[in-house]
Amino acid sequence: MIIDGKSVISFCSNDYLGLANHDDVKNAFIEGIKTYGAGSGAAHLVNGHSNAHHALEEELAEFTGYPRALLFSTGYMANLGLVQALVGKGDTVLEDRLNHASLIDGGLLSGARFQRYTHNDAEQLEQKLETAKGETLVLTDGVFSMDGDIANIHALAQSCKQHSAWLMVDDAHGFGVLGEHGKGCLEHFQLSQNDVPIYMATLGKAIGTSGAFIAGSEALIETLIQKARPYIYTTATPPAVAEATRASLNLVKTKPALRDHLNSNIHYFRDCAKQSGIELTESQTAIQPIILGDEKLALTMSEALLDKGLLVTAIRPPTVPKGTARLRITLSAAHSRSQIDQLIDALTKP
Ligand SMILES: Cc1ncc(COP(=O)(O)O)c(C=O)c1O
Repeated sequence: MIIDGKSVISFCSNDYLGLANHDDVKNAFIEGIKTYGAGSGAAHLVNGHSNAHHALEEELAEFTGYPRALLFSTGYMANLGLVQALVGKGDTVLEDRLNHASLIDGGLLSGARFQRYTHNDAEQLEQKLETAKGETLVLTDGVFSMDGDIANIHALAQSCKQHSAWLMVDDAHGFGVLGEHGKGCLEHFQLSQNDVPIYMATLGKAIGTSGAFIAGSEALIETLIQKARPYIYTTATPPAVAEATRASLNLVKTKPALRDHLNSNIHYFRDCAKQSGIELTESQTAIQPIILGDEKLALTMSEALLDKGLLVTAIRPPTVPKGTARLRITLSAAHSRSQIDQLIDALTKP
C-alpha cells in the first residue's frame, strides 16, 4: 500500500488470497461495467437483479453444496437481515461471546430473547438450549475474526439438532481458504447442510471483491427474499461486482496453489515467530493475533511497525474484550517470504 506517499507492506488486510488485485478479477470487473454499466439502478426486487447476480447465486449454491444462495450488498446487512427475518419477540437467539458485531447487532435488533454463551463452549450452549423459548437460532463465526480460531461446529451442530434449533455459521474468514477446495469451514470439518442449515459468507475477504451471500434451503431463501429488509430495501450491488466475483470464485476453484501458498506462509510465519520467541495464540488460520493486553502498548507497537514500513493496525476494546488489545496480523498468499522475514525482524527488534 502507499500511505502519504510512503510504500508499506500491509499485514492487516482480509484479502487472504491476493485476489483483489488479480488480473482476471480486474478484467471481469471492467468487462462487467462495459456490459451492465456502473450501477445496478435499483433493489433486486425492483429491477436491480441482473443475469450476473443470478449466475453468481447459482455458482455459489453449487460450490457450497446448498440448494440456493442469495446475495446481499454487505455481510453486515446479510446478518441483520437473516436474524430479523427468522426470529422476533418470543423467540431465542444464542450467540458465541466473540461473534462479529454484525451478528450481535442482528440478535439485539431482532426483538428475540438474546443470550451469549462462553466462547466456543458447546456445553454451555447446550444448557442454554434447554431453557430456550420459541424458535431458536444459534449464531457463530466460523473463523473468529479477531482471534483466528475455528468454531467447534461439530458439537454446536449436534446440540442444535437435539434441540431443534437452527444453526447459522458466518464463514466470512473461512470461505475461499479453508478446506481442500476452499469451500470453507464446513469442508474443513466435512460437515453439510444437514449439520448447518444456514451458511453465510462474505465476498470482500478471500474472494477480494465485495458483498455477501446466504446459502440454505429453497424455503430459507424464499423467506429471506420476502422478509429480510436489508435485502429488500437496498440497491443491489453493481452487476460488474458480481462478474468480478464470478471470476474470483473461478480462481478459488481452479488455483489451489493460492491456498497452498497462503498455508505455507502461515506455517512459515508461525515457525519463525516461535524461533524468535514471539508469543502467538493457537490460531492455525491466516489471522495471527499477538495479544498485548495494554491498549497503549498495542498502539505504540503498531506505530513502530509503520515507521519500519509495515502496516499492522492495533485492535482495541470495544472491538475485542477489555485487557486483550492486540496486533491483528493477517497473512496472504500475496506475501513473499522476505516480507514475512521483515515483519518478524521488526517484531523482535522494536
Ligand atoms: C465474521 C464477519 N462477519 C461479517 C462481516 C461483515 O462483512 P462486510 O464487511 O461484508 O459487511 C465481517 C467483516 O467485515 C466479519 O468479519
